[in-house]
Amino acid sequence: METLQLSADAADLDKAAAWIKNGEVVGMPTETVYGLAADACNPEAVAKVFAAKGRPADNPLIVHIADMDMLPELVCEIPPLAYRLAETFWPGPLTMIFKKQDCIPAITSGGLNTVGIRMPAHPAALELIRLAGVPIAAPSGNVSGYPSPTTAAHMVRDMSGKIAAIVDGGDCTVGVESTVISFEDENTVRILRPGGVTQEQLLTIAEHVVIDPAILHELQEGQSVRSPGMKYQHYSPAAHVVLAEGDYAGFCSYVNSHAGNNTYALVFDGEGEGLSVPAMTFGKDDRQQAQQLFAALRELDERGACNVFVRAPEPSGIGLAVYNRLIRAAGFEVIQV
Ligand code: TXA
Ligand code: MG
Repeated sequence: METLQLSADAADLDKAAAWIKNGEVVGMPTETVYGLAADACNPEAVAKVFAAKGRPADNPLIVHIADMDMLPELVCEIPPLAYRLAETFWPGPLTMIFKKQDCIPAITSGGLNTVGIRMPAHPAALELIRLAGVPIAAPSGNVSGYPSPTTAAHMVRDMSGKIAAIVDGGDCTVGVESTVISFEDENTVRILRPGGVTQEQLLTIAEHVVIDPAILHELQEGQSVRSPGMKYQHYSPAAHVVLAEGDYAGFCSYVNSHAGNNTYALVFDGEGEGLSVPAMTFGKDDRQQAQQLFAALRELDERGACNVFVRAPEPSGIGLAVYNRLIRAAGFEVIQV
């Protein structure tokens, strides 16, 4: 299949919307990461998304909407807290899990009776949903297991020849995926995946915000999984990644004495001095690190890195999402330096 490269202007968004209405898959920019967009209510279209990614069938897709009227058509039992969160954080990087209506086919929800809904903030994504006139299922646009795409070039690399078109909406401003939450009771939400909306921000609206243990720790045999995505290897470049906790001096001496072939260091802005291996940087604070992380992991592969030692960020603010992506990229190989 030839993959059309489209801009985000009105004529091209019309073309992209026509593909979606026709049951095809389109690469869609959002403020978090690029997604693989298809009509959420068309099982054949959604099957093409799973095939293009190589995604396990039990891992559900997030459904994207462009206005609040779409919500009660797709889900039932919407708690008042959900409306308060939507008022504050939609459009934006927050996905809320609800009981689904029958119009969401089982393939979209990975066989679950729930579905995650998000209203994205990128103007091209909102316009595409409006023009298509359907709710849009969109997982991150990477090949399953690889770091998510945050530029149109990443999408081309992963999806060229596999989908109908890719809309170039520029570089993603958030850079990590949305925060996925479920509702525990009328005042409590549980973060299943940390993302663009932080725990601190959620606490301005919800009385209690529980962080699911699977965010920071490897699942143990027999432990129950609240979100299927937690079971799978994720965000991993081809290079072997090790996450190093501790100060910069300890990092340098550890890396310098453990450097092998094609070893790289991924460090914060302003660092790199005192290392005997090439260093790449990924931002000076948690927002920048979120924005740059996936591009940095992809670039390490482009450069042929075999081993990468990464400086661990503080797991607070949006840094919790960055830390969560990194421990998964590292397959939970975390060392103290
Ligand atoms: O920012 C984002 O959320 C991006 C953009 C494209 O919107 N999308 C995205 O989708 O990251 P995906 O499919 O790569 O990740 C969705 C995550 C998965 O870990 C999945 O297991 C979880 O959300 N999830 C989806 N529906 C769920 C449900 N009903 N119950 C529990 N977890 C769910
Ligand atoms: Mg993903």
